[in-house]
Amino acid sequence: MDAASLRTEFHTKRFSYDISKYPFKEILENLYGCELKFLHKYLGEYNEFKQSTDQSTLAHKVFYSNYNKILKPIYINFIENFVAHLLYPHKFYYQLIPTFRIGLPNNVFVGEFHKDSKYNHQSYELNFNLGLENYEGSASLKTEKKRNSDDWIILECPYGEIFSFDHIDCLHGSELNTTNETMVSFDFRLALKELYFESDAISINNKTILKPGYYFSSDYVN
Ligand SMILES: [Fe+2]
Repeated sequence: MDAASLRTEFHTKRFSYDISKYPFKEILENLYGCELKFLHKYLGEYNEFKQSTDQSTLAHKVFYSNYNKILKPIYINFIENFVAHLLYPHKFYYQLIPTFRIGLPNNVFVGEFHKDSKYNHQSYELNFNLGLENYEGSASLKTEKKRNSDDWIILECPYGEIFSFDHIDCLHGSELNTTNETMVSFDFRLALKELYFESDAISINNKTILKPGYYFSSDYVN
């Protein structure tokens, strides 16, 4: 088994989960005190995000500073009881803190078109995106259909679904959100245990070393 063929197998696939078991959106709406689609009303004005600023809003700070207390238990439950079934029989480490995304109206949610290999992510990874609000049309992810194809598709993700895509080998990014609602999502990476290798690579986003116990869970999931 090699990771590239597993990523190709999962590329653009969507999977439904039970939102009554994993009510991520309700938890976040309680935290923010507003509907996620209206977050832009309270965040102020931002220039078009670049790679260096696409994690910079107050909503990002609120997400990460409250993550351990309110989201971590349900996220781990989701990984161990839902995602693990999708990956069976592969064992994996998982991203400890998912990456939070906000697509404000007339802005992008990823600062540049890229492959994650540019950001030090390694070939043993898989990537999943979980839409929470308005992950559709111009507000969603744009990716190459196949690596180096310059043939593009939009991947939408209604609440209650996740999708995977080949973040290492396919160029991807976001266009301006031309709707008048905020797009909200998070995404996370898995490191396949059979293929994992030690390196000193560091995540560009949160400056954490890409190792189990740091960026990834210290224990692997079956
Ligand atoms: Fe990416």
